Amino acid sequence: MNITLTINDLNKTIDIRPGEKLLDTLRSHGYKSVKYGCGEGTCGSCLVLVDGEPRLACITFTAQMADKAITTLEGLGTFDELHPLQESFLAEGAVQCGYCTPGMILAAKALLDKNSDPSEEDIKKALDGNRCRCTGYTAIIRAIKKAAELIKTRQNNFSTK
Ligand code: FES
Ligand code: FES
Repeated sequence: MNITLTINDLNKTIDIRPGEKLLDTLRSHGYKSVKYGCGEGTCGSCLVLVDGEPRLACITFTAQMADKAITTLEGLGTFDELHPLQESFLAEGAVQCGYCTPGMILAAKALLDKNSDPSEEDIKKALDGNRCRCTGYTAIIRAIKKAAELIKTRQNNFSTK
């Protein structure tokens, strides 16, 4: 069946199988940042944003995604201008193997879009469903705090120009 999806602000009409999961749809159309980890909703590797809310693509049916805005990591920043979260994850050493990173950054984006000054507890709660086997989380939490600061500073600079 054909379905029109809005992925990173672009509309795409694609053919999907009955019962196809969003993880498979996105990966097969080039959105390789969306990672397969557990396939059963327990690791956060496949996390994307749907209408700004975190959603696990491995347990989401693509057929339910018509008229929704899907955001993957490919929709954040560019090579020339990284999103503050991408910048701070790199600066704080929060990326090791990188497998968990797209899901972590998108979960953090959903948090910062609602709460520009999150506490450590807020961050831990937002990342509750995301597993990282490499970093021990400390650098990730530091990176999210740094990104919140960067976003505020840039907004202040912009508004005083
Ligand atoms: S692959 Fe989706 S939560 Fe693990
Ligand atoms: S950086 Fe390797 S799983 Fe998180």
